[in-house]
Amino acid sequence: MKVREVYIKTFGCQMNEHDSEKILGILFSKGFIETDDPKKADIIIFNTCAIREKAEQKFLSNLGKVKFYKIKNPKIKVIVAGCSAQIQGKNLIHKMPFIDYIIGPDNIDKIEKIVEESLDKRILLEENANIHLLSLPILRKDRVKAWVNIIYGCNNFCTYCVVPYTRGKERSRPANMILEEIKHLSEKGYKEVTLLGQNVNSYRDGEIDFPILLQRINLIQGIERIRFVTSHPKDLSENLIKTMRDSPKICEHIHLPLQSGSDKILKLMNRKYTFNEYFDKVSLLRENIPNISITTDIIVGFPQETDEDFEKTINALKKSQFDGIFAFKFSPRPKAPASNYRGQVDEYTKSERLTEVLRLQDEITEKNNKIYQDTVQEILVEERTEEGVIGRTRSNKIVKIKSNLELGQLVKVKISKTYRHSLEGEILQ
Ligand code: 5AD
Ligand code: SF4
Repeated sequence: MKVREVYIKTFGCQMNEHDSEKILGILFSKGFIETDDPKKADIIIFNTCAIREKAEQKFLSNLGKVKFYKIKNPKIKVIVAGCSAQIQGKNLIHKMPFIDYIIGPDNIDKIEKIVEESLDKRILLEENANIHLLSLPILRKDRVKAWVNIIYGCNNFCTYCVVPYTRGKERSRPANMILEEIKHLSEKGYKEVTLLGQNVNSYRDGEIDFPILLQRINLIQGIERIRFVTSHPKDLSENLIKTMRDSPKICEHIHLPLQSGSDKILKLMNRKYTFNEYFDKVSLLRENIPNISITTDIIVGFPQETDEDFEKTINALKKSQFDGIFAFKFSPRPKAPASNYRGQVDEYTKSERLTEVLRLQDEITEKNNKIYQDTVQEILVEERTEEGVIGRTRSNKIVKIKSNLELGQLVKVKISKTYRHSLEGEILQ
């Protein structure tokens, strides 16, 4: 019998990438192999993102092509998974009847029943209160770094964000499951784990909060580096900062989305902090962890953002001196309250503001990277290329090294050149 093949395309964040590893884990356990040619596949899966309109458009244009594959080979099963599947629901099947199944992020375990053909429903979107208790097989793409879910969903309801409506309410995974998974990873030779959650800082399993969980992971032998995303500034405690400082394996990097420098806009966004409160946390991080790199997310053109408000974001960037940012134009999303706020900003102004933010940050990023010149850094080798290897510093900067190192090796290098988005290093003998 022919081996069945799956083609999967993933859009969006690390959470989605990791969900795809689980989907593939289930399919491989059923004998599937992966193909990069959708025309050859028995199953085509799109794991979709709904965070901004652009992400959705990208997936819709990809899906358009699939219709023709299906006409040629009606046996192909087309599955749409992820956040856009959740938010668009049955509308998607109405518009594109060639889709066979729609499954939301809380229902990825149903893939098994789909391929066993033992499922009579085509639309699987209900919140699965127990998704955090399942141990699904995972087909990991990487041999050195691994993602580990610690908390699902989000209770914060930022007014621009669709996630609370796509990934449901917060559910923390039991700490013992997380620790077991990481022990297994270390036995398999993994060196780095990235703990995943919409808001990792609100992790809780009984007495075990996020700092305690980190302290326990820090004790697992073989794991050399611990990272986590994403932190909500309002929940970043002094206790967590001290834990980062005192746990040698926790890397000196934090992604701490600011979103805006204007208190008025932050309030409209329901972020629950002012810029000064945010900046106090940045200062506390830098006092305790001198070499920490801090990255952030910025939204420009949120409803009612005036030139004055935007100027405050520019000043916030100048004051905070981030190591890197992701900046976006506000994109109205279904169900997100800000989509219906008065004072929507026109597209031209949004583009102007985005350009200005990116130009300023480019300068800051480049300047911050220059500080690395001639310093000695510990690099974890993550990738081999024709010219050598690529790894990262503990502060998450990409370093290229002309050398023949093995994947997973930790080496000390001297930074010999700095660029805006990467560094070059030479091995210290
Ligand atoms: N429009 C633009 N950017 C958004 N983000 C989330 N929702 C929207 C939206 N509607 C950004 C935020 C968040 C990051 C993951 O995506 O900056 O931190
Ligand atoms: Fe990830 Fe957010 Fe996109 Fe969902 S909407 S896939 S959580 S980025």
